[in-house]
Amino acid sequence: MEIKPFENKVWLSSPTMHGSEKKWVDEAIQTNWVSTVGENINEAERLICKKVGCKNAVALSSGTAALHLAIKLAGERLYGKPYVGHGTLEGQRVFASDITFDATVNPIGYEGGETVFIDTEYETWNMDPIALEKAFEIYPDIRLVVVAHLYGTPGKMDEIRAVCDKHHALIIEDAAESLGASYRGRQTGILGDYNVVSFNGNKIITGSSGGMLLTEDGEAAKKARKWSTQSRENAAWYQHEEMGYNYRMSNIIAGVVRGQVPYLEEHIAQKKEIYKRYKEGLKDLPIKMNPYNEEDSEPNFWLSCMIVDKNAMCKQVRGEQDALYFSEPGKSCPTEILEAIAAINAEGRPIWKPMHMQPIYRMNGFITRNGTGRGRSDAYIDRDIMDDVGMDIFHRGLCLPSDNKMTPEQQDIIIEVIHQCFN
Ligand SMILES: Cc1ncc(COP(=O)(O)O)c(C=O)c1O
Repeated sequence: MEIKPFENKVWLSSPTMHGSEKKWVDEAIQTNWVSTVGENINEAERLICKKVGCKNAVALSSGTAALHLAIKLAGERLYGKPYVGHGTLEGQRVFASDITFDATVNPIGYEGGETVFIDTEYETWNMDPIALEKAFEIYPDIRLVVVAHLYGTPGKMDEIRAVCDKHHALIIEDAAESLGASYRGRQTGILGDYNVVSFNGNKIITGSSGGMLLTEDGEAAKKARKWSTQSRENAAWYQHEEMGYNYRMSNIIAGVVRGQVPYLEEHIAQKKEIYKRYKEGLKDLPIKMNPYNEEDSEPNFWLSCMIVDKNAMCKQVRGEQDALYFSEPGKSCPTEILEAIAAINAEGRPIWKPMHMQPIYRMNGFITRNGTGRGRSDAYIDRDIMDDVGMDIFHRGLCLPSDNKMTPEQQDIIIEVIHQCFN
C-alpha cells in the first residue's frame, strides 16, 4: 500500500500553546515588567515548587544554565571557592549518565571537571547503579554524580542514591526531560541534592526557552539567584566579590511558563496515550517500547521510543555523520525506519548518541557494569556478548514521532509504515 506524505509535518515533539500564555506575556508588556524581575517569574517559581514538591526554585534562562549553577554549587560545597578564572571542579572527575543530551555533562567541563561516563541499564535506559558501584571501586575519590532521566522515564534513583550515600557523593538530578514524572511517589526534580528542569521548546511544557534550578537548600537557591544576576553585591554601585552570570529568566519567558504549567498533566496524558497506541500497534513486531517499571515509576512519556530485537536487526553501520543499512525481509533497523518515517513527512530521531561515543568525550572514562569499557573506540560492531549497553541501545533504538498534536489517524499511518519496514 502506498502511503502519501502528511500535508503538515508530524514533529518529534513541538511546543503546544494554549492561549493562556498570552495573558501573562501581555500583562508583563502592559505593566512594563519585561526584564528579569516580575510577577511572572515569582509565580512560575511558585507553581513549579508546588507541582514538584520542592522548597526553592530559581528561574533561569535555560536548563543548561541551571545545570551550570547546580554544578557550581556542588563544586563549591565539595572543593571550596576557586580563584577567579578557575572552575570549581578543576582537576576533579565527576560521574554522569552516558545516554543523555550533551547539556547534561558540558557544564562539568565549564567548571574544569572531567566526566567519567556510567553505562546504562536495560530496564529504564538510565544510569546503571551496578556500573556506578563499579565506577566508585575504580575511582574512589569521586564525590559528584550527575543523573539524567532519559525521555521522561525516571532512573533507578533509590539504588543510585544508596551507592552515592555509601561513597559520600552528591547527586545532581537532570530532570530536563522528565518534568511531571514520578518515582516511588515522588516527583523527579527533588530526588537529587541540586535539581534541574528545562522549558526548552521541545519539552513537555515550554517557556519557548528557560529552565529552573530546584533545591531544598534555601542558601543555595539564594546563591544561585545572585550568581544568575551578575553576582551583584548589596551596594549602591556595581560591587562584585565573585564571578557572575547573566542567567536569570526574563519575565516575558516566565509568562509563557506560567501559562503552560496548568497544562502539564494534560500534555502527559496525551503523551501517555501516544505511547500506549504505539505499544499496541507495534506489538506483533520484533520490537520493544522504551521500558519502565510500572511499580516504581510513572514517566511523563515525553518521547515514545522503540528498540528492534537483536535477531530482527538488518545490517546497519554508522559512521560519524552518515549511516548505511542493508534491507532484509522480516528485519529492519533504526536507519531504515527513520528514513521511512521521514518519507511521509514525520520526524523521528536516533536514540541520543551515548556521550562516551562522542568525538568530544571519546578519551574520557566510561564504566560498564563489568568494569570494562574505558577508552573503547571500537563502536558500531555487533557482538555476541554486548557489554556496552549504551552502544547497543543507540544501535537498535530510535525515537518515534511523539508530538501531542499528532492525531490517532496519523499515528496509525506511522505504525503502518513501521510494519512495512519489516516486510
Ligand atoms: C537531558 C537534558 N538536559 C539538559 C537539557 C538542556 O536544557 P535547555 O535546552 O533548556 O538548556 C536538555 C534539553 O534541551 C536535555 O534534554
